[in-house]
Amino acid sequence: MARPTDTDRSRIFCTEDARRIAQKRLPRVIFDFIEGAAGREVATARNQTRFDEVTLQPRVLENVGARRLETRFLGQTHGLPFGIAPMGMCNLTHPDADRALARAASRFDIPLCLSSAASSSIEEMRDWAGDHAWFQLYVGASMEQSLDMVHRAKAAGYDTLILTVDVPQVARRTRDLRNGFQMPFRMTPRLLWDFASHPSWSLAMLLNGAPEPRNFSTSATATRFDRSASRAGADWAFLDRLRDLWPGRLIVKGVSSPPDARRIQAAGVDAIQVSNHGGRQLDSVPAAIDLLPRIRAAVGPDYPLIFDSGLRNGEDIVKALARGADFVMLGRPLLYALGAEGARGLNALIRILAEETSLTLAQVGLTDINAVGAEILADASDMPKPKPATRTALKAY
Ligand SMILES: Cc1cc2nc3c(=O)[nH]c(=O)nc-3n(C[C@H](O)[C@H](O)[C@H](O)COP(=O)(O)O)c2cc1C
Repeated sequence: MARPTDTDRSRIFCTEDARRIAQKRLPRVIFDFIEGAAGREVATARNQTRFDEVTLQPRVLENVGARRLETRFLGQTHGLPFGIAPMGMCNLTHPDADRALARAASRFDIPLCLSSAASSSIEEMRDWAGDHAWFQLYVGASMEQSLDMVHRAKAAGYDTLILTVDVPQVARRTRDLRNGFQMPFRMTPRLLWDFASHPSWSLAMLLNGAPEPRNFSTSATATRFDRSASRAGADWAFLDRLRDLWPGRLIVKGVSSPPDARRIQAAGVDAIQVSNHGGRQLDSVPAAIDLLPRIRAAVGPDYPLIFDSGLRNGEDIVKALARGADFVMLGRPLLYALGAEGARGLNALIRILAEETSLTLAQVGLTDINAVGAEILADASDMPKPKPATRTALKAY
């Protein structure tokens, strides 16, 4: 008899399950760090409601029995059309979260973006995830230290660097302020009570030690991570400097304006990641899925675009590809899964997302994820014309 898989043993059947279980298992301060956003958190909600309003056109009588999800992007073939978005301090969800992410990246053959503010170092993650590891850079309080991280990534063998540009300052995230979230933790009676009422998480942290932003503690410049420090050093001049410095693939993440996108493209950047940071920065930002066609129109049909913000299931993934993305990144859902069940939950959720994506393909009459285009949208009126040339049109009858 086949051994039960993570999916068989998991209690997660969709992202919402992962979220619900994580909310129970994690201390409030941690769950709120993941879930929280800027201001009144309207942008985060809008990211999802707008996804729900995008509808797909079912097609019938196509033989869709065999389907493939391998995706060609930036000269590489990935096992799935999605990867793991950069997220700081993932080990707050589970002491083994970063290793689990690395193992999942290898197992599913997908990219894993290691945040500057990760709880594992650039070198550790490269050891664990090999070529699947991409490095995400924040230009923080110390320019020297930021450049040191770029050199470390190069020396460790990374070939893809993501520069995040939508956090000139960390926004006011009300939940974090209310909860007194900070690294390292400063114990207050409220925090003690929060930890005490989540014993399985607290015991795991006690046994493994509280996570820390490893790229800072292992840095030659020994500057400590200051989460609230300005990150505005990532300006146009820095982008040019980085392009000269970094020989590999360079991606700019957090782009939502068409003129910015055109200028970044002209600066020789290899790909843009359309993202509103999951609503964590500006509460009045348009829904990310609405930004996508505008950026696609600005950069033309062939320029590589990644998308994140608001993806919660396989249908969302297909919708983002139909609205102009070539590849997508998952954020909060993966942290929910880790917080809920550690590696088992993560693997289960990735399988679920892949299956949902594949089943969606079947419903819209396609067998190859690379064939997804605006034709499968029930309403493509705001899509750029001509249609993206990189994608094969569905046969029109
Ligand atoms: C807890 C958490 C930490 C994050 N840390 C980073 C980070 O260090 N660097 C970065 O570029 N984006 C970071 N992001 C943003 C994600 O990369 C991504 O843009 C966002 O999660 C997408 O929104 P969604 O999770 O609602 O889909 C973080 C997001 C979360 C939820």
